[in-house]
Amino acid sequence: MRFLRALTVAASLVPLASAAVSKISRSGKYLYDDAGSRFYIKGVAYQPQGELAVESEANEANGGFPEPSSFYDPLSSEANCTRDIPYLKQLNVNAVRVYSVNSSLNHDACMKILDDAGIYVLLDVSLPLNGSIDRASPSWTTNLLDEYIRTIDAFNKYPNVLAYNIGNEVISTPANTYAAPYVKAAARDIKAYLRSISSNALVGYAAVDGEASFRNAVAHYMTCGNDTETIDLYGLNNYQWCGDSSLAESNWNTITQGFSDITVPTYMSEFGCITSPPRLWTEVAALLATPVSDVFSGGIAFSYFPTSDGYGMTTIDGNTVTTNSDFTRLSAQYGNATGPNSPAMSSQQNTAATCPQESASLLATTNLPPTPNPDVCNCLDNSAFSCLVNNATANDPVKVGALINIACDLLAQAGSNVDCTTIGSNGTTGTYGPLAMCSPDIKLSWAFSAYYMLNPVATSCDFSGNATRNEGADAPKTAQDAKIAADNCFAGKSAVVTPTSSPQSTGDSGGGNSPSQSSATATPKSDARATLSLPPTAAIVIGVLGLVAGAVVV
Ligand SMILES: *[C@@H]1O[C@H](CO)[C@@H](O)[C@H](O)[C@H]1NC(C)=O
Ligand SMILES: *[C@@H]1O[C@H](CO)[C@@H](O)[C@H](O)[C@H]1NC(C)=O
Ligand SMILES: *[C@@H]1O[C@H](CO)[C@@H](O)[C@H](O)[C@H]1NC(C)=O
Ligand SMILES: *[C@@H]1O[C@H](CO)[C@@H](O)[C@H](O)[C@H]1NC(C)=O
Ligand SMILES: *[C@@H]1O[C@H](CO)[C@@H](O)[C@H](O)[C@H]1NC(C)=O
Ligand SMILES: *[C@@H]1O[C@H](CO)[C@@H](O)[C@H](O)[C@H]1NC(C)=O
Ligand SMILES: *[C@@H]1O[C@H](CO)[C@@H](O)[C@H](O)[C@H]1NC(C)=O
Ligand SMILES: *[C@@H]1O[C@H](CO)[C@@H](O)[C@H](O)[C@H]1NC(C)=O
Repeated sequence: MRFLRALTVAASLVPLASAAVSKISRSGKYLYDDAGSRFYIKGVAYQPQGELAVESEANEANGGFPEPSSFYDPLSSEANCTRDIPYLKQLNVNAVRVYSVNSSLNHDACMKILDDAGIYVLLDVSLPLNGSIDRASPSWTTNLLDEYIRTIDAFNKYPNVLAYNIGNEVISTPANTYAAPYVKAAARDIKAYLRSISSNALVGYAAVDGEASFRNAVAHYMTCGNDTETIDLYGLNNYQWCGDSSLAESNWNTITQGFSDITVPTYMSEFGCITSPPRLWTEVAALLATPVSDVFSGGIAFSYFPTSDGYGMTTIDGNTVTTNSDFTRLSAQYGNATGPNSPAMSSQQNTAATCPQESASLLATTNLPPTPNPDVCNCLDNSAFSCLVNNATANDPVKVGALINIACDLLAQAGSNVDCTTIGSNGTTGTYGPLAMCSPDIKLSWAFSAYYMLNPVATSCDFSGNATRNEGADAPKTAQDAKIAADNCFAGKSAVVTPTSSPQSTGDSGGGNSPSQSSATATPKSDARATLSLPPTAAIVIGVLGLVAGAVVV
């Protein structure tokens, strides 16, 4: 079932000494503790429900479901963690899954309380709404990479972070499996970032369940190929074991069989069907015994906190926690369950699996989108655009999305050979426009500018009050200026434009507060990010951008 997505400001990169937890690592398709024993996740979802967002048509058309529009950061309140820890201990869990945190808050107290109790955290790094890859219109962009890295920077010092999930149910139906390359690119870039800061945390993904061919295709796709881009810990959100069920009735035998050749550890990233109450949690014993334990390494029961649709195991009134009978039964099951300590760690090695072919269940290329390069995108924003999105609009992701569609329609209708392929991409064919990696507001300024350059008069750069002409001294005055500036950005040169036309002398250019001027002073992003190398594709795309911009030269 679904939920949430998850988080902020760099803190010390030095891990704090662990009080209680053993380091968990992956070897082959299993998890092991530092004594070499197999490790099983016996967890519970630990995220108070946020407000549900209004369902958008695009989301609904993509098999979406109501998603939260806001969140409470459960690891930011020492009082709440202190309140809850006796109950988490009573539940016999060794892990919590947290879906959304705010990286600018302090998490020291909660993380210490959990660590002292021997509880690991599986942390989703995405956030609600624009803080996740959009399944209806996927892209892998600088702003998301930045958000995920801020969260990792905020949590890297804690020894009990087991994994960072880079997405939850982003891919929701066979029809939107074209989103998979973007999720996998996120995994690749987050893995590279973790290696660059010497973190051993695993990179996870939590998949929606579904029909077998879809479920298996996505799992194989996300875990195949070069270790630099595979998911380390693959989660399946599964609600098929309902009431007093069995391996056959719940499909767990088929599911286990379908995942048996997955080469990384898997787990049930959510479980706990409520359609045949009471919840007996007999699936716990099945999960931690062969044959399921040959494939899965435990799971996360849903949910500690109450939810509007009835998944909660507690009710909370201020500082008082009341547990229900689901809680009591789960506690007994977790208390009894110890998975088999086999196979031995020494028998395991990481192996690369062959990637599945594209099919009706998998519209996903193995040609992943490039690593988002903030230097290039910021350089473009500072130097290559003649019509800029206003600040207020830039801060409104819904408006930005709507305006990108409007501007791209206008460009198409204008009948020139400039179109939005420059900012667009296609995860089935593996074609990625050179600006597809930039944040939505930068894409919008590109589209505004491309339209404005077709007819550079003030009314072409208004968009109902959402745009302003770039009046900066260095602003490109012609499409040729814009092309030179953009080529320089992709070539890694500084954002200096040599105007090919004489400086414009408009009466209002002296204000000094245009968006371009202010953004031109923005400082480059953190050094750590700079260690993510610019992929070779960047060199190729210079030509593409040049062609597009050049096409509007009259
Ligand atoms: C994170 O917390 C800060 C400080 O309280 C707040 O200003 C900001 O809005 C929060 N961010 C999110 C995404 O909730
Ligand atoms: C999402 O939009 C908010 C403004 O509503 C903005 O502050 C935030 O940075 C955006 N997040 C990302 C990842 O772009
Ligand atoms: C995996 O990818 C890395 C980085 O792209 C590359 O250096 C390495 O050669 C690849 N390994 C294999 C086995 O293809
Ligand atoms: C802490 O718990 C109280 C009482 O349930 C709740 O109102 C508050 O939102 C919680 N704080 C966080 C950060 O989850
Ligand atoms: C836990 O194990 C004990 C002893 O084997 C057994 O009597 C009890 O029924 C088990 N409880 C559950 C919930 O399976
Ligand atoms: C990607 O390209 C293919 C082939 O041209 C097309 O059929 C498909 O609709 C495109 N997908 C998206 C999401 O635009
Ligand atoms: C900006 O564009 C949106 C979407 O088309 C429109 O609703 C709005 O009126 C425009 N103007 C401003 C100032 O937001
Ligand atoms: C636009 O936002 C930037 C920071 O993002 C700020 O420095 C600048 O003053 C804003 N410009 C206007 C016109 O509000």
